[in-house]
Amino acid sequence: MKKHLYIQGKWKEAKEYAPLYSPFSGELIAEIGQADDADVDEAIEAARQASKTMAKLPASKRAAILEKAVAIMEARQEELARILASEAAKPIRTARTEIGRTIQTYKFAAEEAKRIHGETIPLDAAPGGEGRLAFTFPKPIGVVGAITPFNFPFNLVAHKLGPAFAAGNTVVLKPASQTPLSALVLADIFAEAGLPEGALNILPGKGAIVGEKLVRDPRIAAITFTGSPEVGIAMKNKAGLKRVTLELGSNSALIIDDNVEIDQALIDRCVIGGFSFSGQVCISLQRVYVHESKYEEFLSSFQAATEKLVLGDPLEEATDMSSLISAKDHQRMTDWVEEAVSRGANVVTGGKPVNERLFAPTILTNVASDMKCSCQEVFGPIVVVTPFQKLEEAIEAVNDSRYGLQAGIYTRDIQKALKAADELEVGGVMINDIPTFRVDHMPYGGVKESGFGREGIKYAVEEMTELKLITIKL
Ligand code: SIN
Repeated sequence: MKKHLYIQGKWKEAKEYAPLYSPFSGELIAEIGQADDADVDEAIEAARQASKTMAKLPASKRAAILEKAVAIMEARQEELARILASEAAKPIRTARTEIGRTIQTYKFAAEEAKRIHGETIPLDAAPGGEGRLAFTFPKPIGVVGAITPFNFPFNLVAHKLGPAFAAGNTVVLKPASQTPLSALVLADIFAEAGLPEGALNILPGKGAIVGEKLVRDPRIAAITFTGSPEVGIAMKNKAGLKRVTLELGSNSALIIDDNVEIDQALIDRCVIGGFSFSGQVCISLQRVYVHESKYEEFLSSFQAATEKLVLGDPLEEATDMSSLISAKDHQRMTDWVEEAVSRGANVVTGGKPVNERLFAPTILTNVASDMKCSCQEVFGPIVVVTPFQKLEEAIEAVNDSRYGLQAGIYTRDIQKALKAADELEVGGVMINDIPTFRVDHMPYGGVKESGFGREGIKYAVEEMTELKLITIKL
């Protein structure tokens, strides 16, 4: 099955097609059109033209388009979940959860479209400002270049398209090469929902061609990217005066205090945090710091629960964990575990491939902070567990990272909770939960190499609008 490019509301044949294989079975799923420079140019121009129409659509109409898209997705939920499970090897139950979240994200966008407003400014607070009325309008920024990752190919696209359309912008979307089908299916959904032609253009292709042109082309007003710090930082350096929102990686950590009961609820959250979608989540639980008095109890319960995970076909209902997205990432897991073990780390469970694409859920101990499994973003099913004596020590260990997306702390001591909330160098602190928590309207983003700007519909709308000031001399 050949999938073409989507430009100006039409399917366009590409000059080149790349095979898309299932990460689990290796079977050919589709042939995906690869955009070249001329295609990107055409899509940007289509989006630029359509931005005039979009900017004039009233809020009620923008909301109605998003609501209609939601209704279509609700009716097609199972089909969408199966596309996602097949191309990303996301276990079907996890895929269904993502489709549910995607629908919720577009619902929030439909609601937000009706709430975008400016404010009055008391100009008379400054001498010389009297006798004037002043107010602001958030205006659509124009064409948004959206570059999205494979790990949430529906919901992280929704976090870009939703606020862009809510604010009256148009989009050129470059989906991840591994998960183009989850993006391409949106073309027909938004067309049926009544989105003006040219407001959404979808261009699978190479980062060096599509991504590069989106970042450099002056007709693109804002770039919104989720992916690796290396690519994100390079984009920001090339983007000139464009707005740039970057959601990058992390090696997220959790602190478990001495006053906490190691119950099944806590263990279940840690298993979800560490191994959901094989750890291929930006806020995946990678480092756990446990008070020494609870360390052995936590480790044995965590190991027992991890060993119960069902590994296999993403389309099987029972499957908890399936293949990693690429052979390269699979090999990286082996290499990183080998590095840790060769330097003295212990493998509590897992630590090796199950087959050539599936890597066993792995728990390591005795991992030094400069080993890759601790200091780099694993983005795979490896969790490192380390004991601590004093909270200060644990906070310092969490902060000893180039990243700072989210962190968690379980404690029954409000003073300690607030100390951690204050001192942890991250974009979000989850008290009495793992860092792997997100609902789709909360502000989401990081500090340090974890990113720049915030998502969560209201916050993304701020990144995708330009404030215009009007004053009236009375
Ligand atoms: C991410 O991996 O960046 C997104 C995590 C989420 O939305 O749950």
